Amino acid sequence: MATLLKAKPIASRICEKLNQECESIKNQGVTPYLKVILVGEHPPSVIYTKNKKKFMEDMGAKCDIIKLPDNVDEKVFLSTVNEIADSAEVHGLFVQLPLPKHLQHIDVGQLVPSEKDVDGFHAQNLYQILKGDTGENALVSCTPKGIITMLQDADVDLKGKKVAIIGRSLIVGKPLSMLMTNYNATVTLCHSRTENLKEVCKSADIIVAAIGKAKYVDSSYLNKNKKQIIVDVGINHDENGNLCGDVDFDSVVDHCSMITPVPGGVGRMTILSLGQNLLQAAKQQNHLN
Ligand SMILES: NC(=O)c1ccc[n+]([C@@H]2O[C@H](COP(=O)([O-])OP(=O)(O)OC[C@H]3O[C@@H](n4cnc5c(N)ncnc54)[C@H](OP(=O)(O)O)[C@@H]3O)[C@@H](O)[C@H]2O)c1
Repeated sequence: MATLLKAKPIASRICEKLNQECESIKNQGVTPYLKVILVGEHPPSVIYTKNKKKFMEDMGAKCDIIKLPDNVDEKVFLSTVNEIADSAEVHGLFVQLPLPKHLQHIDVGQLVPSEKDVDGFHAQNLYQILKGDTGENALVSCTPKGIITMLQDADVDLKGKKVAIIGRSLIVGKPLSMLMTNYNATVTLCHSRTENLKEVCKSADIIVAAIGKAKYVDSSYLNKNKKQIIVDVGINHDENGNLCGDVDFDSVVDHCSMITPVPGGVGRMTILSLGQNLLQAAKQQNHLN
């Protein structure tokens, strides 16, 4: 059976470091401060923002959720974002998605200034990654960053590895393909029009599934050597309403060397990356080490 790459032990190791780093920033006179804008009461968004606030406060940072009504006027929404963006005491800002329909035309990634863009969606941050950065001069989007952290924690050296990423979204597949390339992996970015997807996956050392389809990748996507590493980004519900990934775990677990479980895998890493990004943003804005 494959080794399970679980987030919990990694998280406890990283949280300890984050707490120390946050303390050291505070000792230099700066309290890392995140503001989250939540529009409406979309139940999963309410839970996500609560979890983020708790994580930031446990780390020692300050975090406020700014709640706006579902029918908030666009001007009020924009002025709220701009006001927070201009506040010197706030180091990180993000807008919880999805926004209600009447605000969905707004490119939220560009609203937040790049130095406070703890989500890593701003064009400037993405451009740094495109140029070859691995996070030194940019805030890296949270899920791709969490995946890299997990692989590094498991001593997986990306250099020279063949990676098949299934899914080309701007929040997962595309930035991850750039980041992994910057770590010297050879990446094939796949999507719904990719031909011979199974063959591409069979020839990969690492398969990343970010498709949004429950249990889509089964053992027929794997080769016979049992050395492949599977990263399952998907968060779906199966036919019984249970949480599951884009990978059919039971089908592949005896045919690969490592796999991230769902739940308890990549999902938990995303919030850690957000904490790392907030501390990085606070340090960079205040020229701290
Ligand atoms: N763990 C986390 O923290 C985290 C964070 C973000 C997302 N997620 C989860 O990750 C999954 C993907 O999210 P996303 O936002 O990246 O999804 P998305 O924007 O819907 O993109 C899905 C991608 O999968 C591709 N795809 C769809 N069907 C396919 C098929 N049959 N064969 C090959 N490729 C196919 C699409 O191809 P086309 O481009 O050709 O349409 C698209 O590029 C979802 O389950 C989401 O909930 C988890």
